[in-house]
Amino acid sequence: MAQYARGAAAVAVIRLRNPPVNALSLTVLQALEDGLKRADADPSVKAVTICGENGKFSAGADIRVFSSPKKQGLGLGPIISLIERSEKPVVAAIEGIALGGGLEVALGCHYRIAHVQARMGLPEVTIGLLPGAEGTQRLPRLIGIPAALDIITTGRHVPATEALKLGLVDEVVEENTVEAAIRLATKLIGQPLGHRRLSLRPVPRLPNMEAFLSDALMKVKKRAQGCLAPELCFQAIKAATELPFADGVRKERELFNILLTSGQAKALQYAFFAERAVEKWTTPNGASWKSASPQPIRKAAVIGLGTMGRGIVTSLVKAKIPVVGLEQDLEYLNTGRKAVMLLLEREAMKMEQGAQTLDFHNPARLQFTVDFDVLRDVDLVIEAVFENMALKKEIFNKLSRICKPEAFLCTNTSALNIDEIASVTNRPQQVIGTHFFSPAHVMRLLEIIYGRHTSPTTIATAMQLAKVMKKVGVVVGNCFGFVGNRMMFPYTQQAVFLLEEGSRPEDVDRVLEDFGFKIGPFRMSDLAGLDVGWRSRKDQGLTGPSLAPGTPARQRRGYRYSPLPDLLCEKGRFGQKTGKGWYQYEKAGGRISKPDPWIHSFLSEYRDTHQIKTRFIDQEEILERCLFALISEGFDILAEGIASGPEHLDVIYINGYGWPKHRGGPMFYASTVGLPNILAKLQKYSEMHPDVPQLRPSAFLKKLVAMGNPPLNDWMSYLHRQSNKL
Ligand code: 3HC
Repeated sequence: MAQYARGAAAVAVIRLRNPPVNALSLTVLQALEDGLKRADADPSVKAVTICGENGKFSAGADIRVFSSPKKQGLGLGPIISLIERSEKPVVAAIEGIALGGGLEVALGCHYRIAHVQARMGLPEVTIGLLPGAEGTQRLPRLIGIPAALDIITTGRHVPATEALKLGLVDEVVEENTVEAAIRLATKLIGQPLGHRRLSLRPVPRLPNMEAFLSDALMKVKKRAQGCLAPELCFQAIKAATELPFADGVRKERELFNILLTSGQAKALQYAFFAERAVEKWTTPNGASWKSASPQPIRKAAVIGLGTMGRGIVTSLVKAKIPVVGLEQDLEYLNTGRKAVMLLLEREAMKMEQGAQTLDFHNPARLQFTVDFDVLRDVDLVIEAVFENMALKKEIFNKLSRICKPEAFLCTNTSALNIDEIASVTNRPQQVIGTHFFSPAHVMRLLEIIYGRHTSPTTIATAMQLAKVMKKVGVVVGNCFGFVGNRMMFPYTQQAVFLLEEGSRPEDVDRVLEDFGFKIGPFRMSDLAGLDVGWRSRKDQGLTGPSLAPGTPARQRRGYRYSPLPDLLCEKGRFGQKTGKGWYQYEKAGGRISKPDPWIHSFLSEYRDTHQIKTRFIDQEEILERCLFALISEGFDILAEGIASGPEHLDVIYINGYGWPKHRGGPMFYASTVGLPNILAKLQKYSEMHPDVPQLRPSAFLKKLVAMGNPPLNDWMSYLHRQSNKL
């Protein structure tokens, strides 16, 4: 609703009220309209202030409405016009946030005052839409085309001080914003308002408008990577430069409706809520976010200052958690320290108040040591040494003896068994996996892995740590590769099998990049380094000296195996770092990949050697084999209780593996393709490749199909139901 009151003798105050973020539901909109009409009709009211309850203006339209069957909620534009037409001055008092429709309401007001800590933006693009309440037409008239394009096509939040510079707000205050707005409204009584009505203003012209727009369109398209909304946002803003206000608004509505009915908006809105849903974690034994409280982390330590450790230290410093970085000797320590300092300098440059805010030259905030004793008083340790069980166990055993009894012990691992690591400590209930993604100070995902003995408090603390570091924590169970890497394995495996059968690395990458992945599997492998997987396969006895003599080249443990990546490693082709991998690079450490004729002839010799008939593989088969194998593994993960819902898998893939967000994550994508279609294709490919178990459809997928292909929200409820069709 919206509360109507008197702020001063002649000023009516309309307060938007819909906790927690004052989303503009139909009820709120109705109450806003009623309030405006009441103020208009009352001759003793001479001015109006609009504000929001609980220090938040509004987060915009209620996003849930867009996926409801009625899809109403677009009555906002006419209400904003009503605000603007008012003969009595209307002042917006912006506290906290004014986003989407919330900011559009403020743009309809004649004046805007913001609290210094407020943030404003039009983030509709991030949920697959565009500002659909006349915002694409008013904002350019207020702050000009370049700034409006930036704000609308990126959806970024603009801090109040920047908003003032841009002319988005008229005043920034540090005191009570609503009182300041009431004072301003009182002063404005009786003053002319014509020039304050944005719909009546022209869009400020640029000397080179056409060239500017065509350049901007190219940039928007490049950034969008297949996502429709940024380009349609652009078109709506362009309309503002070409059409009178009313026609521009019509164009905006038309474009908005295209987006609203597109699958992309549905996927992006699903992703928005999925990210919030994973915060509410549960485990199969009944532990949950509801009953577990996190412990405060006042000081942390990171062991190992390699690539991962450096990023983790940087994330902790940015989160203002005092941290100790530890290395095995002075030489490694100095290299690590220099690298961390460089990362922090760069991060500080990106921040508004830079180095002062991070304060990383202060030893109370950031300390480096080779002495484990320094870790006696830390509340939490993150071990980030390389993936070696024996080494990790040695470290955890030592930590368990040195750290105070309440301290939490986290291991940054992408695959190793958390229980085995915990078993060497005197506190397995406080041991947890924290799988960061490289570069750890940039990537948002944190896979949080509980072991058999991990306590709910430990999970809650790790989740709280993720939040403080501005990461998305996703709680998952303990199995080889956890969720992310376990699903990745069948995907990359199919990619390599496709090379054996006839594709080239660039063919496979192109199909997956066209689908929307930031980077295809072979470019990814070159970036990460082929030697990483090679080491792991040697440890598993799949290749190298421990392989039993006489093992067939393309078979392991009775199933199909491709030695292609091992053969490349044997030739020293580790990827970007050596200048050669699945592609060639301009130099060792180079980043620009070029298809490599050497690889093409190597692949054809390989096929000759193993008597594989090269065949043409179309895009559909490449996409389906890679993605459906990954999705099938996802269904197994759900059935085993390793993740508590499909949104967990989707949040992991969007935030850690470059899955295109506008396709909602692999499990959401599966629901859009239709489970019966996926099952049929997997059955077909599995018949063609009986020696590849990863192509055999998951039993849970089969069950869901037998149950009539229920919607994604209902999948988990079918886990233990009997199916008489199976
Ligand atoms: N509609 C419905 N629910 C919303 C919402 C919205 N616009 N914004 C937030 N919520 C809900 C969240 O789902 C969450 O619900 P939960 O507690 O049940 O999980 C709750 O409000 C709190 O949100 P957060 O957990 O995200 O709280 P934060 O403090 O971390 O962030 C925020 C607050 C910055 C406002 C963030 O929620 C956000 O970015 N919201 C979306 C803003 C947005 O996209 N607005 C545009 C809407 S579309 C529109 O206005 C169309 C118009 O042009 C016609």
